[in-house]
Amino acid sequence: MKDRYSLLAPFYNRLTKLVFGDQLKQSKNYFKENPSKKKVLIIGGGDGLDYRNFQNQLAGEYWEVSRAMLRLAKLNLSKSQLTFHLGYFQAEKEIDFDEVWLHFVLDTMLDEEILSLLVEIKKSLKPEGRIYLADFFAPKNAFQRVLNRSMINFFRIVVAHKRSSIPDYEVILQSQNWVKISQKEFLKGWVKAQIWRL
Ligand SMILES: C[S@@+](CC[C@H](N)C(=O)[O-])C[C@H]1O[C@@H](n2cnc3c(N)ncnc32)[C@H](O)[C@@H]1O
Repeated sequence: MKDRYSLLAPFYNRLTKLVFGDQLKQSKNYFKENPSKKKVLIIGGGDGLDYRNFQNQLAGEYWEVSRAMLRLAKLNLSKSQLTFHLGYFQAEKEIDFDEVWLHFVLDTMLDEEILSLLVEIKKSLKPEGRIYLADFFAPKNAFQRVLNRSMINFFRIVVAHKRSSIPDYEVILQSQNWVKISQKEFLKGWVKAQIWRL
């Protein structure tokens, strides 16, 4: 599998902080509550840096398709109880995760990939399990629209980003019977943190 993030991985986190300050980190961690009691599935967590401060409370699985990102995540989260996996998440027989964290990963995937991932997630979450989503939604003003377009073009060139638009997460999740139960907006609603349950 070609690692499209190999060049960007060492700079990715600093780049996002340069453009968005702490807002993306805050959106990822807004709904976090007592992760130490839970088994968490993190998909596309990147370098894991934004989870480092509470890594000793983290147990579960960490899936990444970028070898470079995964290598950084293993270093940044070396004191966690997470197991690290390279590749696309596939549900095992046992259904046992309490939470799935999807932080700025669905916006990199085609609609059909999101749908297939949700099928795998459904198989591996406990019935009362939750999806914790944080991602870019439709930009809210002209400045955000320009920045959004520039980001998409940048990622299309640097990491062969597959999309030219933001996915309609809510329509996709609702089509598989997920129900939104909480939401917090960041950057005037361009970024949202949401919790979904079945
Ligand atoms: C835009 S980056 C965001 C990284 C991190 N979540 C963050 O917020 O800093 C997207 C990450 O998702 C990973 N990724 C994309 N599709 C994936 C998939 N199907 N399974 C696991 N990881 C994936 C990429 O390798 C990349 O590291």
